[in-house]
Amino acid sequence: MTQIDLLRRHGLFDAKVPRYTSYPPANHFGQSVGADVQCDWIAAIPQGRAVSVYIHIPFCRRLCWFCACRTQGTSTMRPVDAYVDQLLLELAQLRRLAPAGLMMGRLHLGGGTPTILPAKTMARLLRAVFTAFDRADDFEFSVEIDPTDAAPDLLQTLIDFGMNRASIGVQDFAPAVQKAIGRPQSLDQTQSVAQFLRDAGLRSLNVDLLYGLPHQTPDSFRRTLDHVADLCPDRLAIYGYAHVPWMSKRQVMIKDDTLPDAMARFELAGIAHDAMTSQGLRAIGIDHFANPSDRLARADANGTLRRNFQGYTDDQSETLLGLGASAISAFGQGFVQNAVATSAWHDRVGQDGLAGQKGYVLTPQDKVVSQIIADLMCRFAFDRDALLQQFPDQSNLIASARAMLSERFGDAITEDGNLLQLRPEAKPLVRIMARHVDSFIGVSGGYSAAI
Ligand SMILES: C[S@@+](CC[C@H](N)C(=O)[O-])C[C@H]1O[C@@H](n2cnc3c(N)ncnc32)[C@H](O)[C@@H]1O
Ligand code: SF4
Repeated sequence: MTQIDLLRRHGLFDAKVPRYTSYPPANHFGQSVGADVQCDWIAAIPQGRAVSVYIHIPFCRRLCWFCACRTQGTSTMRPVDAYVDQLLLELAQLRRLAPAGLMMGRLHLGGGTPTILPAKTMARLLRAVFTAFDRADDFEFSVEIDPTDAAPDLLQTLIDFGMNRASIGVQDFAPAVQKAIGRPQSLDQTQSVAQFLRDAGLRSLNVDLLYGLPHQTPDSFRRTLDHVADLCPDRLAIYGYAHVPWMSKRQVMIKDDTLPDAMARFELAGIAHDAMTSQGLRAIGIDHFANPSDRLARADANGTLRRNFQGYTDDQSETLLGLGASAISAFGQGFVQNAVATSAWHDRVGQDGLAGQKGYVLTPQDKVVSQIIADLMCRFAFDRDALLQQFPDQSNLIASARAMLSERFGDAITEDGNLLQLRPEAKPLVRIMARHVDSFIGVSGGYSAAI
């Protein structure tokens, strides 16, 4: 059977499956978890643990048509200033509730466009964050940067506060593609931001690209990949474009008949894979690439790669504290998502100090499913021994998942004792396998057998 036949047989070209940046995915969060539970979980963070902090800035000066992120357009700084004032209140409440001596291992500013903040406002926010939390050893501070909206004084402020990793949005450099996705962005602008960051001594530079965009062709995408190679990124995230106009209304500007079909998307993903690996970058998980000396590649090589809401990460912290509208916090006990609309988040922070609105309490079974899906997504493997060691009283659940994978995906895997692995040519199926685990024993299907 050819690779295409194998992938087609398992439904790759018809499937709509979650990206499993979390298990369960956020659409399974419910109203039974809110600010009360959030307070309890924050207070219960084990002493002496380093936590990760995520701050969401949901504003952009422009709204690109392709974008499915939680963001809103603004042409003035008034709502941005009011938002930062409220973030400081939320931060103060978080600090009051959290155990003393909490250290911050990671800080990530995402959006939207964090670089929309004027330098002074950014400094005000970062001073408050660094006053609230001491930095752990090996602290990492990363920011999502739109190169068309990143003033030099703002970039310098981020560097002065210790930003050591940055992610630049590119998507595609082809003019026809940029026009069709409503995102003009010149090569010069992008190069000059990358150069500024390099000259300032940034440790790791990531570039985001998308395949499956309107009017993208193999030739045009190869040219984009060549331009990106000239930027010498340490990491790349090359995501498949998610066309979800029913969720992200601005995507109605992108006509269905301009989009590459499933086979063409598969070809574009392969072009990206070959271009990046031939330049010596390591392919990581389903959509990332990294220089072998970069921390992400090292985590992949030593088996400690993890998945978080940004994609793949080497961050090992169990606790992620999310601030801002729609931000998600992760704890050992489960997830809490802040109110999604900026106005609702603003009101809740004003009333209660915290804005948790929905979430999910992980059961012991969920934790097993979560680990199985993380192992598949990060390592393309299912290691029965390792799972049994971590969850000794969940042997039935682990055995069921293993039997289902063996039976359903026999032609896509190899099995050697405890270890089940995807064949290299079957790796594109990994999300479908994760989805089967989810429907068979997880929240999407509801494992009901007595365990
Ligand atoms: C929240 S955006 C922030 C980027 C920053 N504002 C910029 O414009 O450069 C982060 C990334 O999400 C990805 N993204 C946004 N919409 C997407 C979609 N519909 N499908 C797949 N990835 C998407 C893009 O690669 C984007 O760079
Ligand atoms: S891609 Fe970036 S700038 Fe464009 S709408 Fe999304 S978050 Fe805003």
